[in-house]
Amino acid sequence: MADSMENKAGHNYYLDVPPASEVFFLKGMDHVDWGMKNRLARMFNPKSGHTVMLAFDHGYIMGSTAGLERIDIVIPPLAGHVDVLMGTRGALRAAVPPTLDKAVALRCSAGSSVLDEDMSHEVIGVNIEDAIRMNASCMAIQTFIGAPGEKTSIQNLCNTIDAGNRYGIPTLGVIAVGKEMERTTKYFLLATRMVAEFGAQIIKTYYCDEFEKITSACPVPIVIAGGKKLPENEALTLCFRAIREGAAGVDMGRNIFQSENPRAMVKAVAKIVHENASDKEAYDFYLSIKK
Ligand code: 5RP
Repeated sequence: MADSMENKAGHNYYLDVPPASEVFFLKGMDHVDWGMKNRLARMFNPKSGHTVMLAFDHGYIMGSTAGLERIDIVIPPLAGHVDVLMGTRGALRAAVPPTLDKAVALRCSAGSSVLDEDMSHEVIGVNIEDAIRMNASCMAIQTFIGAPGEKTSIQNLCNTIDAGNRYGIPTLGVIAVGKEMERTTKYFLLATRMVAEFGAQIIKTYYCDEFEKITSACPVPIVIAGGKKLPENEALTLCFRAIREGAAGVDMGRNIFQSENPRAMVKAVAKIVHENASDKEAYDFYLSIKK
């Protein structure tokens, strides 16, 4: 008997203390499973409620992007300053040491290159077993609302959400903007809400006018994409506005690794995302860090 093996005078059942309970810190995530919450809490800092994700998955459509010719040299030194690494399984396995121990947003859609006139026809490129093997904290799937490949991309998204739900792995629904696709508030309102209703636990979208309407109408956390390289002060203003208007974080690539000083830039972004710094404070901080 376990009791007779112990030699303790008395037990304390804390009869006057109610059982511990907490409201989970991320919106819309109260009713997901423990394992999924644990993964989300690895991606989003429970203190700030926010995340800095570093995207370097560009090669899956663009080949070797400027600034990412050598992922093994560029990405590891930045990893200590971010919450999540977003990459393909090929890049992660070949060029990112697993000892960095960072949450991974695994790019799981694949299929169309920048040479394709219509890039909206993707497939699921990574199955759930390999996502588990990669210890993915979430799986990223592109959705092309309003494009010829819309239905297929929604099917990819829903299949991935179903597989992720079986194993407690969240899905990051990435709102695509193709050559011919709109970048209006109306479009992002529609697309983000659709992808959340399909069941994606996190949404990645672009910043736009009236962004607070997008974050308000979306029942789950939104992170913004950085997009093409901007001057550092403008990229920091983009981050600042997105966070102020309800984004739960940023998922930035080119504005970090193509920066004049990537380490300073990623730290300045984190100041806004986790420490409520203004864009001006973050830019001054950026300028103060030597290359
Ligand atoms: C594209 C993506 C990419 O990860 C993302 O856009 C790259 O980041 P950035 O635009 O900041 O360079 O999800 O669908």
